Amino acid sequence: MSATVIVGAQWGDEGKGKIVDLLAQQSDVVGRYQGGPNAGHTVIVGGETFKFRQLPSGIVSGKLSVLGNGCVVDPEVLLGELDDLEARGLSVEPLRISGNAHLIMPWHIALDGASEKRLGKLQIGTTRRGIGPAYADKAARIGIRVQDLLDAKILRQKIETALAEKNVWLERVYELEPFGLDDVVSTYEAYARRLRPYVADTSLLVDEALAAGKRVLLEGAQGTLLDLDHGTYPFVTSSNPVAGAAATGIGIGPTRIDEVVGVAKAYVTRVGAGPFPSEMEEPIGAEVREHGQEYGTVTGRERRPGWLDLVALRYAVRLNGITSLALTKLDVLSALEELRVCVRYRLPDGSETPNFPAHQSDFHHCEAVLETVDGWNESLDACASLSDLPPAARAYVELVERALGVGVDLVGTGAAREQVLTRA
Ligand code: IMP
Repeated sequence: MSATVIVGAQWGDEGKGKIVDLLAQQSDVVGRYQGGPNAGHTVIVGGETFKFRQLPSGIVSGKLSVLGNGCVVDPEVLLGELDDLEARGLSVEPLRISGNAHLIMPWHIALDGASEKRLGKLQIGTTRRGIGPAYADKAARIGIRVQDLLDAKILRQKIETALAEKNVWLERVYELEPFGLDDVVSTYEAYARRLRPYVADTSLLVDEALAAGKRVLLEGAQGTLLDLDHGTYPFVTSSNPVAGAAATGIGIGPTRIDEVVGVAKAYVTRVGAGPFPSEMEEPIGAEVREHGQEYGTVTGRERRPGWLDLVALRYAVRLNGITSLALTKLDVLSALEELRVCVRYRLPDGSETPNFPAHQSDFHHCEAVLETVDGWNESLDACASLSDLPPAARAYVELVERALGVGVDLVGTGAAREQVLTRA
């Protein structure tokens, strides 16, 4: 049996949580392979809404839920989510956390905010959850890992070593208060007592599950265009959301993955700064933001809506090896008479390309070439499968399939688990 990856095909917020939850019903193990509490996954089951920042969305379905080594973990956020789930009567017993995942420490959060402030107009617009500084320490080999929670002496030593440097940065560069060693140690020791039972060799666990013929679903956070290597750098996150990273971020070989489901909204949104060729003009943008409730799950910030960008989606299909697409929030477009779709980019020299520019300056200066297509202007509530879609909505889905050479197997028409159309 091999693994399926679910990956965001745009700038995040594609509605992956809901698709993961749906596919988790037929899976035995669900794992997250990158990111931390910068994610905001919403799952609605039986009228109840669950919002996760740190936990894999699969936990709602009661399946073995793994936080892989590629993740960064904020224990405060994680424990808050576990408490919330328990209070709502759900079991948190199926959680397993990789000992190799890195911990988000209080200085990571302080430095994330301070560095954004210092960048001023050039700021990235991060979620200020400490993601960049935590991954930077991982790469610099001075991070503190989940397994360090297993040994109080090592934990104290590592916090002391880190603070010796971080406090200098905080005080001298950013003029902020330093952190006290004893305070941080006692806070993290308390986290350790609660988190220890969940720490496991998750790479082995997933391998054994695959060997036993179990179905494994690997859930990406953020999206392709926020990928550290392939996204719109520097306006990206500090990990690799692309499907290839699922292998390293969970600890399995790439040959164990045979399906990649790309999740894309029927339009596009982006949070934070950065170029956005297909951004909608006002007042249409505001209308879509309202209909789609496009406000950040983590930060509450307004998302910037844009027309479906086939150039960026083609890039996502290529980078991730997407084998099928889930198109979410098609119902949001029902409000519009006429739709536009970005089919090519026009570069500063006047030439047009169907491919995502490889260089930042081309992307920053390109314009979207938009084609107008008919809207359907009717509710999709009564549709039970893809063949029930109104003709113009079906044509919209087929346009995507033709342009990308990939089938759209799932279409989202509302927030609840049941509101996903399949071919059947
Ligand atoms: P960071 O991941 O907090 O460092 O933020 C870096 C960039 O990624 C910012 O533009 C954020 O708005 C964006 N970002 C991070 N996580 C998400 C997400 O889950 N959805 C959408 N954008 C995100």
